[in-house]
Amino acid sequence: MLELRCTVRNCERSLELKDSDDQRAGLACAAGHHFDQAKEGYWNLTQPQDKKSLNPGDNRDAVLARHRWLQGGYTQGLVGELRLWTERCGQIARVLDLGCGDGSFGPWVFPDQPGDFCGIDLARPAIKLAARNWPDATWVLANADRGLPVMDGSVDCIMSLFGRRPISEMKRVLSPSGICVVAVPAEDDLIELREVVQKRGDRRSRVEAIIQEMSSGGLTCVEQKQWRTQVEIGPQEVEDALAMTYRARRWSEKSRIEAIGTTNVTLAADLMLFTNEAASS
Ligand SMILES: C[S@@+](CC[C@H](N)C(=O)[O-])C[C@H]1O[C@@H](n2cnc3c(N)ncnc32)[C@H](O)[C@@H]1O
Ligand SMILES: [Zn+2]
Repeated sequence: MLELRCTVRNCERSLELKDSDDQRAGLACAAGHHFDQAKEGYWNLTQPQDKKSLNPGDNRDAVLARHRWLQGGYTQGLVGELRLWTERCGQIARVLDLGCGDGSFGPWVFPDQPGDFCGIDLARPAIKLAARNWPDATWVLANADRGLPVMDGSVDCIMSLFGRRPISEMKRVLSPSGICVVAVPAEDDLIELREVVQKRGDRRSRVEAIIQEMSSGGLTCVEQKQWRTQVEIGPQEVEDALAMTYRARRWSEKSRIEAIGTTNVTLAADLMLFTNEAASS
């Protein structure tokens, strides 16, 4: 299990597994702060102020939409691309999945390593699904924007797939030889749907800005590639694809979604591999 860190303000001590009287496991730090394991098997390390967060994580509808979408198998090619990197990097012992959502990617990318794998997300419905799906891994409900609940230098691979990137915290928790795998939607991801729904399809690559930001935080991009495919999807998948990414809010958009029917769409992601080394100048 990853070395988790106490989230009580200014504590930051390491959390150890403890047996408790009621048979349910607990985590405790040396200052006596205690966290019970939820009955679904995840650890709730949020603090009261996280409930007031402006960004509370994905809502239930978005979580379920992404869950159905991932179950549909459209992203298996992406999993293959991620594994080409993680397998080439040799023995990656401890993995942190940042903004893990429903946790599908963990067992797909690291199938043999549940004991070394930890997923963090701020959405309770997501972390519940994750804990049910892969109970031998560690699942943590926490706010990644308030500091990662993980000890310094204790992670060998951070995976951030379409999620958060708190760079100084990522740098802090990575081991000296650690790597970081980042995926973001490419500029033409779901472009066919966005063109219909938003009446325009903004094409904007995020790659340069992310590489620059990460580099300023001491993480160096050593490789970059794209994953792209075309799939035919039906009305339910159209709705899910839009619900999980480009939340269509207005009624006018809703009626345009319903009119789409079965259609071909592009799925595309920009993938970046970073090492925990400052670039040599
Ligand atoms: C687009 S989803 C991606 C989920 C997953 N990585 C995947 O690819 O299926 C982004 C995730 O980030 C989570 N998230 C948003 N803000 C967060 C925060 N402050 N701390 C932790 N997770 C957060 C959301 O709840 C959501 O599950
Ligand atoms: Zn503590």
